Amino acid sequence: MVDLPLDLNSIRQRLAGQRLGTEFHYFAEIGSTNSHARRLAEQGARQGELVVADSQTDGRGRLGRHWVSPPNVNLYISFVLRPKLPPARAPQITLMAAVALAETLQSFLPAPPSIKWPNDITVNGKKLAGILTEVNCGTDSVEFVILGIGVNVNYPVDLMPEEIRQRATSVLVERQNKVSREDLLWRLIQDLDRCYGELEVNGFAPLAPRWEAYFGWRGQRMRIELLDQVAFGIARGIDHDGALLLEDDHGRLQRVIAGDVTPVS
Ligand code: BTN
Repeated sequence: MVDLPLDLNSIRQRLAGQRLGTEFHYFAEIGSTNSHARRLAEQGARQGELVVADSQTDGRGRLGRHWVSPPNVNLYISFVLRPKLPPARAPQITLMAAVALAETLQSFLPAPPSIKWPNDITVNGKKLAGILTEVNCGTDSVEFVILGIGVNVNYPVDLMPEEIRQRATSVLVERQNKVSREDLLWRLIQDLDRCYGELEVNGFAPLAPRWEAYFGWRGQRMRIELLDQVAFGIARGIDHDGALLLEDDHGRLQRVIAGDVTPVS
């Protein structure tokens, strides 16, 4: 299969009637789909509008990192969401998206993926996909959320830059053959639409057991880097509001709401 630019015509027809993705903005190349979706949201874009790009020149990851975004091989998408959630529950959007993304990817992979709190999907310890959620809040409500997702789909190892080669993987690498990016995108939009609906109607509680089932680090000793601090603890799961629960060396459960977490042996 030759790597071609995304062909979204077939998807466009299938999207009518969904909450997410009915209106989408496609770019062969863009700086960052998240930045563009934010501009659209500031101009009044409706819930569910989707920005899709075949490549990004300034793809952004969490903690100010760069997201490598070459053309013809991966997915780079951002949704404008307008959830009816109090700001304190906004992190649940990332958790919900991780469940949807893991469920989508599981159907394309030979082995189930894992969720690495809060926003990574990994397989065999290597990163396959990432989520970048950016929240805009009013005084006591969420104005909009930009939900950005990058998935390494038909990305061969030899195309990956040296700095990510040791820790990144792709659907192609894991299953040893290519998949249709259009099919994967279509499935992902459907899964997100379903999980987002569940979150809006019933809250995070019904999604939590599915999140926990994909959580690959339960019982594992973790290192957490906060702004200027490093701490350690055993991962015990997540709280109802999405905080990571780490058991410290005194047996106390600590709630971690931000930071970079890595397993240690
Ligand atoms: C991370 O793992 O740090 C999050 C990576 C998120 C990357 C996606 S690609 C589409 C969207 N646009 C961006 O600039 N970033 C997100």
